[in-house]
Amino acid sequence: FSARPSDVFASRRATPRMVVLGKPPTPSNVPAPGPDGDSSSSKPSTPALVSTLPQWKALQKHKESIIDQTHLRELLDDDERVLQLAAEYDGVFMDYSRQRISLETKKLLLELAEAVNLKQRIKDMVSGKRINTTENRAVLHTALRAKKSEVVMLDGVNVVEQVHTVLDRIRTFTETVRSGKHVGASGKHIKNFVAVGIGGSYLGPDFLYEALKTDPAASSAGQQAGYSLHFLANVDPVDVKRALDGFDPEETMVIVVSKTFTTRETIVNAKTVRTWLWDAMGTDPKVVRQHMVACSTNLAKTKDFGISPENVFPFWDWVGGRYSVCSSVGALPLSLMYGFNTFDKFLNGARSIDKHLVNAPLDRNIPVLMGLMGVWNMSFMGYKSRAMHPYTEALNKLPAHIQQVDMESNGKHVSRHGVDLDFEVGEVDFGEPGTLGQHSFFQLLHMGQVVPCTFIGFIESQNPTCQDGEPVSNHDELMSNFFAQPDALARGKTSEECRAEGRSEDLIPHITFTGNRPSLSLLLPVLNAYTCGQLLSLFEHRTAVQGFVWDINSFDQWGVELGKVLATKVRKQLNQARYHGKPVADFNASTKRMVERYLFGSVG
Ligand code: F6P
Repeated sequence: FSARPSDVFASRRATPRMVVLGKPPTPSNVPAPGPDGDSSSSKPSTPALVSTLPQWKALQKHKESIIDQTHLRELLDDDERVLQLAAEYDGVFMDYSRQRISLETKKLLLELAEAVNLKQRIKDMVSGKRINTTENRAVLHTALRAKKSEVVMLDGVNVVEQVHTVLDRIRTFTETVRSGKHVGASGKHIKNFVAVGIGGSYLGPDFLYEALKTDPAASSAGQQAGYSLHFLANVDPVDVKRALDGFDPEETMVIVVSKTFTTRETIVNAKTVRTWLWDAMGTDPKVVRQHMVACSTNLAKTKDFGISPENVFPFWDWVGGRYSVCSSVGALPLSLMYGFNTFDKFLNGARSIDKHLVNAPLDRNIPVLMGLMGVWNMSFMGYKSRAMHPYTEALNKLPAHIQQVDMESNGKHVSRHGVDLDFEVGEVDFGEPGTLGQHSFFQLLHMGQVVPCTFIGFIESQNPTCQDGEPVSNHDELMSNFFAQPDALARGKTSEECRAEGRSEDLIPHITFTGNRPSLSLLLPVLNAYTCGQLLSLFEHRTAVQGFVWDINSFDQWGVELGKVLATKVRKQLNQARYHGKPVADFNASTKRMVERYLFGSVG
């Protein structure tokens, strides 16, 4: 039953090919990947791939014994092993005994972490070293949730002070709006908020908004107090309708969220919503002043758009878009909706895990262990996908957010030094809340491809309820699945077990479960603003840890550029053809045919 993956490395080059200037690697001139990727020797040298390290090779050798000689059914029966494959911190409990690992695997993975100087790489990140080398930027999202008393210096400036100056402004501004001191242009109390933004300027805030909708404390300050928040992300005009539907412009504030303030989707949508406001209230400058605010790093562009500087809440180039939910990107919309104190609790939860990441020993460090399991599953076991199953509907948007955090970060093909990788990185991440996923794609998870799973459960529900005549509470019903699914995946069901049930021989192949499918379970007390912060930080750091071990740059995203450039060309052609009668040109035959069909209804 060993669900052995195909050899994922077979078709890849065994020897790294340099795409930057330098000598090809040989055992003598290859420095180990480290904090700087530099060699201590003064000789010019080629930065080595992590796969050249003896610790990596030891894991490759070791994986054979795991694949050939172990099954999770037996591994789970080893009490000593199970006891050692768990970690706990600040209410977060992680069980990783259902990973296809032995205690030896864990030891070897920790040795790999030591060999790549993981601790130092983490320190470099949180202390403001410019680890995003292709953009020459620091990666300091942890500073966004640092305490006021902390100091993180970047270019002679304490960024924590900058962060708290903006947070204080957001606290004051959101209280002014919620208390009715800042009113709409026609004097009405503002109670609807529309956040216009996409990607990292949308997914994180949306996850948090959804997660807190049913949190008693947040919802009493939000929906129950009469406030509504909608997101407008897609440039599809249908999304404009959906976002604005039912909102009175005179009672609505629009928050334009864009790090660059150049993203086409966001700018087009912001203009569309501004027109909606003008249509209702006229074009007097006070309409934009009272109804439009922005979160951005580009203060010149927000000014050009007409948003008053006092209504712009900045953040900084050292905050990556997908890591920006703790900046004004999340702080402003979520504080308008649920009050600043709720958002502050979210920051506290994220900070708790940040401290754990930095201070806990690697073998008890939850995000480090999550990351090491990711490296093991992807690069050694060859599992290319990974699924996340939060057992609460309130986390319905967490998988989408983590999908961007992880896939935009680790979807890379070269090391941070520009060397082609000769191993696989960057999982395909997807997920759905439990139990919805069970009735959708779990068939494949149980009987098709092997997809490592992350289960997230809570001891208490945000909405506890029981039904007369039911054996357990509704939450216990949900959690029965949270506990059952990992075992079903791990243990499976043998043909002998099926036979013992008296099943017909014809049916047995169809109802046998190979099992041996890895998962990891996180159990937290209850979903609230604090635990949302903890979850966010855990998954952000999982991604960073994997990137550090793989020695890739997890903080740039050049892969999204090409499509944007080509869309610009198409946009120009659509304009010329539709409004100036110009022929569609400069495309390949396929694109030309499609564009012409789109414009003229038929080919030619
Ligand atoms: O999708 C590419 C991307 O650059 C993301 O990294 C970013 O989160 C998103 O676009 C939005 O960018 P901005 O906040 O600048 O509008």
